[in-house]
Amino acid sequence: MNRTIEWRVDARAPKPEELAEAAGLLREGDTVAFPTETVYGLGADARSDEAVARIFEAKGRPSDNPLIVHIADRAQLAGLALPWGELAERLMDRFWPGPLTLVLPAAPGAVSSRVTAGLDTVAVRMPSHPVALALIAASGCPVAAPSANRSGRPSPTLAAHVAADLGGRIAGIVDGGAAGVGLESTVVEIDGETVRILRPGGVTAEELREVVPRVEYDAVAAPGAGMGTATAAGDSRAADSERLAASPGDDVPVRSGSAAASSQGLRPTSFSADPVVHPATVAAQPPGLSADAALAPRSPGMKYAHYAPRGVMELVQGDAEARRAYIRREAHAARARGERAGILTFDERAGGYDADDVLSLGSLARLETAAQSLYAALREFDDRGTQRIWAESVPETGIGHALMNRLVKAAGHRVVRV
Ligand code: TXA
Ligand code: MG
Repeated sequence: MNRTIEWRVDARAPKPEELAEAAGLLREGDTVAFPTETVYGLGADARSDEAVARIFEAKGRPSDNPLIVHIADRAQLAGLALPWGELAERLMDRFWPGPLTLVLPAAPGAVSSRVTAGLDTVAVRMPSHPVALALIAASGCPVAAPSANRSGRPSPTLAAHVAADLGGRIAGIVDGGAAGVGLESTVVEIDGETVRILRPGGVTAEELREVVPRVEYDAVAAPGAGMGTATAAGDSRAADSERLAASPGDDVPVRSGSAAASSQGLRPTSFSADPVVHPATVAAQPPGLSADAALAPRSPGMKYAHYAPRGVMELVQGDAEARRAYIRREAHAARARGERAGILTFDERAGGYDADDVLSLGSLARLETAAQSLYAALREFDDRGTQRIWAESVPETGIGHALMNRLVKAAGHRVVRV
């Protein structure tokens, strides 16, 4: 296609002249990728059907997956959403600008129906990255922006990732260096006095609880969702999710090709003992859809198999020593079969593995760093041609919850408990 223009800008204090051309392209209905404090986004004027269509086209994104509208100041919100309540106001006061997306009742006709995928709600966030804020303000548009990756690929945390996926398919890329958090924003909806997390992300449940009385999880967003193992304490939605996502007879290891599992069209998600990988039942899943699809998530994007590296990845839970023994054995066996084996681990655990590609996400003591490194590591496996990957699980507290949510998806729900 066409050439994609790249602008290198000062991430902390971008100059207006550095962003003028990019802002002009957005105003004219073109697509421009830019850094945010979560991941890079692919922006277009949210009011224009044609501009928004270009986002879906460039990404290869399913049209029933709505987009987040990015704003630079609160005044822009009044035109996008119907009057919102005190709870929404409190969340904006505390977390904007920042990695929190609010799903609000949409002002009819305010944005293209392609942005909302026909829903009567609109997802809005005010990013805190200086480049994102300055670009949105200079464009004068509400900017619809999904993550700037080809659909199904890990989200981009560097301009180089955007160029690799979308170079030649979009008008421009504003390069402001590394994005911040490394995982996407937390998406929430408000239901009376309750804030419901539809997608875990940069703002943690613990932080939300500091300012709102009740925080719940949508089924697919709960800790343990898609794994068929742990659940959020006392959360009945999470329990539902576990029932739905779990394979029949979940406490019994389901063997490859199990008629029971494949006839249900469900992917086994955990194994309490004697773990086995299930190529036959995994293949029974409709292409592009994850086991989450059965849950009819309230955030449509959660049903798609996201963040996937090209190699087959498995997430390993359980006691550290058992995990290590299992990964060593499996990686060794893979290599003996002639497969390129990779391990996604932490500094404290990285030694002593016999594998082709051992990638560390940094220290286990700093999960924020792991969040920043995850997507780049998944892309690194792709670049190296790693065919089988074993990833170590992390505790689901703080940002660890969002990290595990992405790891489970990257593993295509192949979660093993040893
Ligand atoms: O951090 C982020 O949120 C990044 C940066 C670029 O801002 N953006 C991002 O966008 O992750 P995307 O398109 O990859 O994910 C948007 C998520 C999807 O899961 C989508 O289904 C959900 O937000 N969403 C959008 N509009 C919604 C709505 N009206 N109701 C419920 N969920 C919605
Ligand atoms: Mg995305």
